[in-house]
Amino acid sequence: MSEHMGTTCVQGGYRPGDAEPRQIPIYQSTTWKYDTSEHMGKLFDLEESGYFYTRLQNPTNDYVAAKICEMEGGAAAMLTSSGQAANFFAVFNIAGAGDHVVASSAIYGGTYNLLAHTMHRMGLECTFVSPDCSDEELEAAFRPNTKCVFGETIANPALAVLDIERFANEAHAHGVPLIVDNTFPTPVNCNPIKWGANIVTHSTTKYMDGHGACVGGCIVDAGTFDWMAHADKFPGLTTPDESYHGVVYAEKFGQGGAFITKCTSQLMRDFGSIQSPQHAFILNLGLESLHVRMPQHCKNGQAAAEFLQAHPKIRFVRYPGLAGDQYYELAQKYMPNGTCGVVSFGFEGGRAAAEQFMKSLKLAQIATHVADARTCVLHPANATHRQMNDEELVACGISPDMVRLSCGIESTEDLLADLEQALATA
Ligand SMILES: Cc1ncc(COP(=O)(O)O)c(C=O)c1O
Repeated sequence: MSEHMGTTCVQGGYRPGDAEPRQIPIYQSTTWKYDTSEHMGKLFDLEESGYFYTRLQNPTNDYVAAKICEMEGGAAAMLTSSGQAANFFAVFNIAGAGDHVVASSAIYGGTYNLLAHTMHRMGLECTFVSPDCSDEELEAAFRPNTKCVFGETIANPALAVLDIERFANEAHAHGVPLIVDNTFPTPVNCNPIKWGANIVTHSTTKYMDGHGACVGGCIVDAGTFDWMAHADKFPGLTTPDESYHGVVYAEKFGQGGAFITKCTSQLMRDFGSIQSPQHAFILNLGLESLHVRMPQHCKNGQAAAEFLQAHPKIRFVRYPGLAGDQYYELAQKYMPNGTCGVVSFGFEGGRAAAEQFMKSLKLAQIATHVADARTCVLHPANATHRQMNDEELVACGISPDMVRLSCGIESTEDLLADLEQALATA
């Protein structure tokens, strides 16, 4: 396909042949019909590739996953029912009971819960390190049973930027892959694989769908991690899988195919967290305009951040594209064309001012969402973190006056005018 992202967004993944539909067909079928049970047997043994049951795989999903794979520069990819499922599968495919993971502490709260609590109950331990930790602290986090390193390119909601190259080098020095959740910048603004990430995940619910229409996720494997070179650490990929007649994924499917084939044939088979083909179709409509929408999200994010920073009622602004932001240099390195449309800020007038501001907004809609076409806004102290008192909020890095603004793709003038009129009341 083209080296240019715009062409891949529009035409990647699905290439119709002569007299075939131009739009990706929706395979609205649970099952496939075969002439002989021998043929079906070969599919079950992974001797032939093909579809038999949509709990594991569906062609509509695979076309869309192939597009995201091309956008990220990966070797293989799969869609999942949500971003949560994508991150769970990406980690659980190589780490389970008795294993250990190193993760950045600046990650989405849902992913933190997944790693710190739910996967902990499954026997996995996770050490969280600040994305800004020293080399010594990062080094000290590794154990002999560490199986991967996990981080977010731009963390939700902290808006911290991960030094991908540094974390990748450290992971590789310990013989494990780096998994990066690239939801916020999308491959339009950052390709973590270019900087050494081995597996990339997405909540496609956000910018990729882009219209707040469908929950979904995606996992892309770069095909760059040599499982066989670290065979003792990854027996699930390098020793026979008894549930598939002794197949050894890394041998049979090679470095580029092993991870996603195992993830599909074991985890999707057993957990069934598949994205519906209807949702995959809608996701693809979003992808077709992602390269056009992202610059407008970034333009609005940048304009809002600069406007807010200059406003006397605003106490602080966090936006990695803002000169002087703690993560500005890293953002310039990894995302020179723009970061995302999400901006966090706080009020001189504290929580009460934040509440008044929220009430006065007209264009920006109050929603527990980020990263879609309509500007939306959340006051964590009154929503996602409502159960915490002010001291507890501060302890987890969310001040009571903090508001998270997700700039959509409306006209910049209207967005700024809405912020201005709401600030006048705060
Ligand atoms: C960075 C990031 N990763 C993963 C998720 C989880 O995705 P989903 O809501 O699609 O399960 C989110 C959700 O907000 C997110 O922001």
